[in-house]
Amino acid sequence: MHQFNYRNGKLHCESVDLDEVADRYGTPCYVYSAGTMRDNYRRLAESLPGIRTRVCYAMKANSNLAVLRLFANLGAAFDLVSGGEIRRVLAASGDISTSVFAGVGKKEQEIELALRNSIFSFHVESEAELERIDRVAGRLGLRAPVAVRVNPDVDAGTHAKITTGRSENKFGVPFDQTAALYRRAAELDNVEPRGVQIHIGSQITKIDPFVAAVGKMLPLVRELKDAHGISYFSIGGGIGISYDRALASGDPAWWESGDGAGLLTPERYGEALAPLLCDLDLEILLEPGRYMTGNAGVLLTGVEHVKRSPTRNFVVVDAAMNDLLRPAMYEAYHEIVPLAESDGEFEADVVGPICESGDCFGKGRLLPAVGEGDRLALMSAGAYGFVMAGRYNTRPMPAELLVDGDRTAEVNVRETFEQIVANERIPEFL
Ligand code: LLP
Repeated sequence: MHQFNYRNGKLHCESVDLDEVADRYGTPCYVYSAGTMRDNYRRLAESLPGIRTRVCYAMKANSNLAVLRLFANLGAAFDLVSGGEIRRVLAASGDISTSVFAGVGKKEQEIELALRNSIFSFHVESEAELERIDRVAGRLGLRAPVAVRVNPDVDAGTHAKITTGRSENKFGVPFDQTAALYRRAAELDNVEPRGVQIHIGSQITKIDPFVAAVGKMLPLVRELKDAHGISYFSIGGGIGISYDRALASGDPAWWESGDGAGLLTPERYGEALAPLLCDLDLEILLEPGRYMTGNAGVLLTGVEHVKRSPTRNFVVVDAAMNDLLRPAMYEAYHEIVPLAESDGEFEADVVGPICESGDCFGKGRLLPAVGEGDRLALMSAGAYGFVMAGRYNTRPMPAELLVDGDRTAEVNVRETFEQIVANERIPEFL
């Protein structure tokens, strides 16, 4: 569910008119809804009643310091993947000692930083990594809590670039080699098995792959609990969202019409998984990224020109693939809506100003009759939006705003040209 709705024909985020935000802060800019993020967190945290649940927000989805503070205030832990992410959580006063450190290539300095900040657990992806963690912990005179990321070889039925749970992916340890790796961990002096983890992919919109993966893991999880006294099972992230604005809003009209019937919600996720997990007597960790912030953010963009040709219309906007990479990279769909509703409808491709045909946010979209100076919102851009943005074409990183009720705060100021080139040097020999 999200809080982006039309009031008197104007798109609002909570109580704030987005056209006014664009007037004040300029476009392109990301706008996040604090209320939506809080609702998302609470719904997921409560989705497994009777089971000890820890939500480790996969902050790679949106790591703005204000977003991290918001989740930390709610008691969230974090799923971290780099030293930079550890430092962001510290900067937002979040808790590393409840958080997990994932990723296939952790550097020694990153392992050290995590250990010095009492990381709750490392999610280990290989024997070589286990040995590296043991070595670093030994050097520091510490014991490192670890969990092996198991690859359950389940097809999550998602985009090839974001599926992770198949045996051909680089992620995790093959299912049938897991017990041996725990035996190896038990032999090492400076690591201590604390849990076990899976993550099968992202934007999974059906419950079946989750049920299949968790079901496949249960005997192994029990065996590891008996043999090594592990205390948690992390079932990863991956809960998909609807990229359809009306569906994602949770509007009863859509749900009752049946359009919402197949949608994966935290409640459906919990209902299907709780019966599998309730007898384990382990803490269950969830690592949602997209679910927490995806529908809680939009990218606002201004229309520069409308180009009409005999065969096609183009709406050229001031956001580009550098600001929101997902359509170019994954052929991802983001709904595009006007900030001000109006009559008339025409079909157009919505494109950015970059000189590449991949710089296109949507082909053949039905839009109202927009023109120069009007504004559009690219919906569901709160996850993997700003964090994947870049400076291609020497375009500055966009601004980020956080709305909470009727308040708006600029939580990341648009970059300046001076900041873009600040670390560049022209050598003397030129
Ligand atoms: N845990 C692990 C170990 C992960 O690798 C990921 C995401 C998550 C949790 C969070 O997954 P989520 O709940 O957000 O699906 N850039 C892509 C998505 C990449 C996901 C990478 N791993 C996109 O824009 O669709």
